[in-house]
Amino acid sequence: MKITVVGAGAVGATCADNIARRELAEEVVLLDIKDGLSEGKALDMLQASTLLDCDVKITGSSNNYELTANSDVVVITSGIPRKPGMTREDLIGTNANIVKGVTENILKHSPDAIFVIISNPMDTMTYLALKSSGLPKNRIIGLGGILDSARFKTYLSLALKCSPNDLQGVVIGGHGDTTMIPLTRLATYSGVPVGHFLDAETLQKVAADTMVGGATLTKLIGTSAWYAPGAAGAALVESIVRDQKRVIPCCVYLEGEYGQSDICLGVPVVIGRNGWERIIDFELNEEEQAAFNKSADAVRNMNDILKTL
Ligand code: 2OP
Repeated sequence: MKITVVGAGAVGATCADNIARRELAEEVVLLDIKDGLSEGKALDMLQASTLLDCDVKITGSSNNYELTANSDVVVITSGIPRKPGMTREDLIGTNANIVKGVTENILKHSPDAIFVIISNPMDTMTYLALKSSGLPKNRIIGLGGILDSARFKTYLSLALKCSPNDLQGVVIGGHGDTTMIPLTRLATYSGVPVGHFLDAETLQKVAADTMVGGATLTKLIGTSAWYAPGAAGAALVESIVRDQKRVIPCCVYLEGEYGQSDICLGVPVVIGRNGWERIIDFELNEEEQAAFNKSADAVRNMNDILKTL
């Protein structure tokens, strides 16, 4: 198994590091446009491997796509991250060209790869990668829901003062501060609905904190987060390469599911060796469906900007 991560910034490098530590592949390639950056970070990870009982070949590549040849999975994190005060949507013009170019270059050397898109605005970048590559829809997966659900479970565990391991919680919709939908109604604490423990106001606050989970970090750190995004990327890749068939909320192409078509949006999907294998299309209540439709409208407006670039 060979996995390439494109973009050796904080998210890409953390994702590659998590992938290597979990030994998800025999070979991990980290590629970046900036000379020396990926080689340096790959070498640093390799040196760390000797301390961590980890035996994975980790290679850096300064924009040489030949080194990525025959990758099974490719994670794209390239593009500029957001600064405080910016939304993910503000990045569209710059990142669209980057993501399109990277996808084309990767496909020349790894025609069978499964793509995981992390670059923002992620829902639109996923749609762009799908449309520009012409690949089968199951091979393009946008990473948003698994990260947003991790943040949802974090805030729930803080409110409940419990272990996040006892929580189930899913965020669907877009990966934007106003487009994501934490499904508080369906979240459980060891199988018991969280509404049994938390009042409506607290649950609303958990949902609101989740939605700005990334923005809160951007404000604190001065750039966008990387530990949780990197770990989320590796968890998604693990379900692919180990064919775990985990149900993970991811951004995928919808053709009528949840009442939406011709859009990539976050919904629960089964993730396995073939990429995303099945959408779990369960019935939302009226309020949730209205929020999902609103989220789709906002993402569709962003997708329309692609036509003007
Ligand atoms: C985040 O939410 C990187 O979009 C990513 O932190």
